[in-house]
Amino acid sequence: MDRSTYQLNQTKLRDSKVFRDAIHNYIHVDQPVILDLINSKEMQRLRRIKQLGGVHQVYQSAEHSRFCHSLGVYYVVRKMIFNSAIGQALCDYDKLIVMCAALLHDIGHGPFSHCFEEVYQIKHEDYTVKIINGQSEVHQILENFNKGFAKEVSSVIEKKHPNKILVQMVSSQLDGDRMDYLLRDSYFTGTTYGHFDMARILRVMQVYDGKIVFKEAGVQAIENYILARYHMYWQVYYHPTSRSYEQLLMSIFRRIKDLYDSGYQFGDINYLLPFLKGNVSEQDYVKLDESIILYYFMVFSEGKDTILANLCNRFLNRKLFSYRDYNNEDDLCDVKDYVLKCGYDLRYYLVFDDQKQIPYLYYGNSDDISEIEILVDGKLKFLPEVSEIVGAIIKSKNNKDDRKIFYPEV
Ligand code: NI
Repeated sequence: MDRSTYQLNQTKLRDSKVFRDAIHNYIHVDQPVILDLINSKEMQRLRRIKQLGGVHQVYQSAEHSRFCHSLGVYYVVRKMIFNSAIGQALCDYDKLIVMCAALLHDIGHGPFSHCFEEVYQIKHEDYTVKIINGQSEVHQILENFNKGFAKEVSSVIEKKHPNKILVQMVSSQLDGDRMDYLLRDSYFTGTTYGHFDMARILRVMQVYDGKIVFKEAGVQAIENYILARYHMYWQVYYHPTSRSYEQLLMSIFRRIKDLYDSGYQFGDINYLLPFLKGNVSEQDYVKLDESIILYYFMVFSEGKDTILANLCNRFLNRKLFSYRDYNNEDDLCDVKDYVLKCGYDLRYYLVFDDQKQIPYLYYGNSDDISEIEILVDGKLKFLPEVSEIVGAIIKSKNNKDDRKIFYPEV
């Protein structure tokens, strides 16, 4: 297939498929390659991985999956193509590349992603690329469409594709990924902080100088989006109880690793073994999901190692760690004495976490495509130069670290 003459109409499904969605209503699929990717086993696995990991311990309805989010990002990127000025700047082959990249951008996420990755030294970004280019159904589907297509799709996700517009659509300060997850997470947590006017933002998107920029008339809609993101971080993503749950998870993963290294006999933990041995192929990787991890936790909660059993019981029955602010060494000493007095092992029962949320990264560097740029009277300006609100947020003293220590109450 020749990329310069390819047209979406050539491969269009006779009957387009629709997926009903709580956020975007109807998600249309009219290309066979997209439908095949959705039906692949690697994509279906994302149904068994929650988008927000432990946040449902705070907001109990936040049970939505990475599968829903991935379809949502595909929807937003497709909207950019067909309902904004961006579509006119792209050839049909690039349009298909970016729609596939949107759908697959999170394909390498594992169960309880962030915690699992930290303890086992894995990066989901690496596995996204390995799954797309390695031994997988996804890879076969992309290569069956056209030779070399898989590489082009992964290069968008890796931010290496020569067409920067494609990269910006999937991954930048204002992209399909963030737009979907803010709206989706806001809806499923039941908070209203994440709402913003996506239709308006799509209407003010422009292509200028080979990149995506925004009309000046859209500044208020963008300000609203930046504030939505800022509030969602503090109210949802960095909520202390979510962090407490994550710290408990990390203690469990750490204990499993320590026990394995000391020769402990677990019984059957076949799906975890490649991770403990530190040699994980993409086929091993996609076999692991949250249902398997939860099954192991249930088994461990009745196992002979009392620390692992206690941590797993806490996790399954939501006996989370308490927390307090960490300002200086004195705070730490008090808690340390207390934890030791209770007979707990400090390595698993006293954990420290530091979060910092920068509402809007401003580099002031025109080469950086993640910058939001506004077209004012034919000239490009950075968002903080045009928006007093965003300018004020950048200068705000609110961007300080939030440091906490987590420990069991009893
Ligand atoms: Ni995502």
